[in-house]
Amino acid sequence: MPHPEPLDLVVRGGTVINADWQGAADVLVGDGRVRALVEPGACPPDAIRRAGAAELDATGRLVLPGGVDPHCHVGFTSGEFTSLDDYHQATTAAVFGGTTTIVDFAIPRPGEHPADVVALQRAKAAEGLCDSALHACVVDWDDTVPEQLRAVVADGVVTVKMFTTYRGETMAEEKTILNVMTHLRDLGGMVVVHCEADHIITDVQERRASAGAIGAGHHATTRPELAETASVAEILAIAESVAAPVYFVHQSTPEAVDLVARARSRGVRAFTETVAHHLVLDDSAYAGPHPERFVCCPPLRSSTTVAGLRSRVFHGQVATIGSDHCCYDTAQKESARHDVRAMPNGLPGVETRMPVLFGELVVERGLPLGRFVAMTCANPARLNGLYPRKGVIAPGADADFALWDPAATHEVRATGLHMATDYTPYEGMRLTGRPRTVVVGGRVVVDEGRLTDPEPRGRHLASGPLGPALIC
Ligand code: URP
Ligand code: ZN
Ligand code: ZN
Repeated sequence: MPHPEPLDLVVRGGTVINADWQGAADVLVGDGRVRALVEPGACPPDAIRRAGAAELDATGRLVLPGGVDPHCHVGFTSGEFTSLDDYHQATTAAVFGGTTTIVDFAIPRPGEHPADVVALQRAKAAEGLCDSALHACVVDWDDTVPEQLRAVVADGVVTVKMFTTYRGETMAEEKTILNVMTHLRDLGGMVVVHCEADHIITDVQERRASAGAIGAGHHATTRPELAETASVAEILAIAESVAAPVYFVHQSTPEAVDLVARARSRGVRAFTETVAHHLVLDDSAYAGPHPERFVCCPPLRSSTTVAGLRSRVFHGQVATIGSDHCCYDTAQKESARHDVRAMPNGLPGVETRMPVLFGELVVERGLPLGRFVAMTCANPARLNGLYPRKGVIAPGADADFALWDPAATHEVRATGLHMATDYTPYEGMRLTGRPRTVVVGGRVVVDEGRLTDPEPRGRHLASGPLGPALIC
């Protein structure tokens, strides 16, 4: 045995895929962490047995870092609706889909304090099958906010989500965003922003409502692309003015991504996240029999916009791809389908993010595997201060990985998924490539479609320094 430290597991015969290195290697695991990557065959099976370690045969498999989902809402309350999962359910679904770390949100309801909500939400991490981190959220500015920001950063939560839409719920005024950016900059943190100019959207929605066109089938027209473009430009100007880093969540248009890329070329630390459904689905879904099942913000865009967004992924302008998972079911969606202003926004996707992106971007369109890992594992870890503990298979990293069968074909069916809902927006999609075995902290939790270790061992992850992202 070439390694002196005690081993619990050896993953043998696979091809390791990191963002910046790929090759045949055996992975040695001890005490929940990667101990070493060694030459294939350096650990023969009898030596593994003598060392008392378990063995996973990864022959023909790609060994990827566990996915890091940078955008996942668990049990999220918005308006009258609460999404239907808890940490155990959301992380169970995550691991089945090859994701082993989620970043959730601690979003205050009116009257709640951001730091209190962080404390409540972080206590739930222990219910998870895998680890989780949090984004805090600030809605209103008052004298207590600077101290609350210091408290949440001291608690390891260094990213703060802010919204330029949803007035009366979570929308923050621009001056509040500027204040939070400035304070977080000095604390080593970063604002992550949902950009859709609310005044534009409200005006369009009022006019659409007067014309009797405010049901789910009209959703895309009620939140136009230019509302996103205008808001991104404004927020970038604020970030540039105060020299603060900024991360744009779920960017859905090429124009929005280009604004961020141009700012980056001027030296602004600005990053684009996009989400799986904006890269794969389009607004034709709103003409189908169940438009409400596709209501999310920003809405699904035209096929031309989707193609433009995908080209930004291929050209290295997108740092991360999340799920924006919101686990509402069809009854919740249907109950308000007559008026998008009252609907629960968001789509279930923590389980499908990695397989859908693998099938649609890597297999169908030739995205290099390293780039796939960069956007779904390494960069989400880097930009949330979790790297190199997460998002990479390297000595010292947590032993979280997924053994992918790159040739396995399957059809996405809600009945075969584990999210706490009764539908998937990808119903019937045929995909190639899926995770067969998923390891969390050195334990096999999923194997060949079975949950092999349902014990919750999730930890809240305190974030370290942010970035840099690999834009490759
Ligand atoms: O439609 C969405 N995205 N719902 C979840 C909340 C948010 O805006 O991220
Ligand atoms: Zn959002
Ligand atoms: Zn979201």
